[in-house]
Amino acid sequence: MINALRGMKDLTFEESERFVHIVTTAIGISKKYGYNYIETPILEESKLFKRSVGESSDIVGKEMYQFEDKGGNDVCMRPEGTAGVVRSFIQAKLDRRQNEKFKFYYYGPMFRYERPQKGRLREFHQFGCESFGEASVYEDFTIIQMIGDIFKALGIGYDLQINSLGCPTCMPPYRQNLINFLTECQDELCEDCNRRITTNPIRVLDCKNEKCQSLLTNSPKLINSLCDSCDGDFKKLVKLLKSENISYHIDSNLVRGLDYYSKTAFEFVSNNIGSQSAIAGGGRYDKLVEFLDGKSTPAVGFALGIERIMELVQMPEISREGYYIGAMKQEGVDALFSLASQKRATDKVTLEYAPKKLKAHLKGADRVNARYCAVVGEDEFKEQKVWVKDLIQKQESVINWSDF
Ligand code: HAM
Repeated sequence: MINALRGMKDLTFEESERFVHIVTTAIGISKKYGYNYIETPILEESKLFKRSVGESSDIVGKEMYQFEDKGGNDVCMRPEGTAGVVRSFIQAKLDRRQNEKFKFYYYGPMFRYERPQKGRLREFHQFGCESFGEASVYEDFTIIQMIGDIFKALGIGYDLQINSLGCPTCMPPYRQNLINFLTECQDELCEDCNRRITTNPIRVLDCKNEKCQSLLTNSPKLINSLCDSCDGDFKKLVKLLKSENISYHIDSNLVRGLDYYSKTAFEFVSNNIGSQSAIAGGGRYDKLVEFLDGKSTPAVGFALGIERIMELVQMPEISREGYYIGAMKQEGVDALFSLASQKRATDKVTLEYAPKKLKAHLKGADRVNARYCAVVGEDEFKEQKVWVKDLIQKQESVINWSDF
């Protein structure tokens, strides 16, 4: 028997219904906020992710599904959606249309070769949005509000954590301060953090090791040394969240696992799904378009993890719908197709080709959760009629084919 690969799973029946419900809800809301669908390839050049997500990030350093294709190209299955959307944005020369704004939504599979556990897969699915051309912090707020709308529509509670990661003015001096602090307590930090002091000191802040965390309580905080522009934006974001009654926590150690962020960074966390608790994350990445050789364009976005949200979502009650249509004798079966076409114009139709007794058809209608069971019996066939039972109202009737 051949099974799916470790960390990858099939979605069927109830699970795939949940998946579709989450995606359609998120699409409906993002359209209301002016987002348009974008589809980018799953396979990209590896250097796209190395340059955007960052060589020193775990995603690039440890988790990429990277290989050489038959043409000798170094390619990678996308670990996230933002880099591909930015590549596409630049390739389509949208970065040159400086006064215009572009908003894209996407959903699909992402691949990270992580150690699988509950809520952590090697193939998982994201729904994401990327907004280009809007430098105002109002857009950061609007995106957070949109995610809140999506979770509200899905009946999911969350804890919103926010931080600012500064900009090229305030980040470098802070980074140096942090390196000085970390070097002083180097001997007490874990092995990973020791390595990160030189490769990516900011990532030390979200180390999960308890000892490191306790040492970090006294570390310098970027939130206290932001430049005027970043500080002003962060205060404005907080003010907007308060005025719109969106509750939040400021987490000065929230750094995100991808290197492209500047200014606003945020994460939506759930307390009901175990240790892999982040259900959505995002932030501003004003330097990324330029970094990937495009014209400098401010941008902000997010992605939510569909499998994690599937654990939490309240599914709407599925009521009986549509028609189940069958016949009791072989001669009646041929008549079913035009009856089915008639009904499909407005309703969902399940056709049964095998002639069966009425009781078996009623069971069949039950199995597919149909509202109506329609059967062409021997007499009905002769009279060009069909017997119909409404399985909710429990009413029966006999109707002419032409009126069905
Ligand atoms: P991310 O935080 O790496 O951000 O991923 C977003 C969400 O994907 C997470 O909050 C989580 O729900 C889900 N996720 C991540 N890894 C896994 C996994 N191994 N198994 C299951 N679910 C997972 C990004 O990917 C950014 N591109 C978000 C973004 C868009 N920032 C700006 N624009």
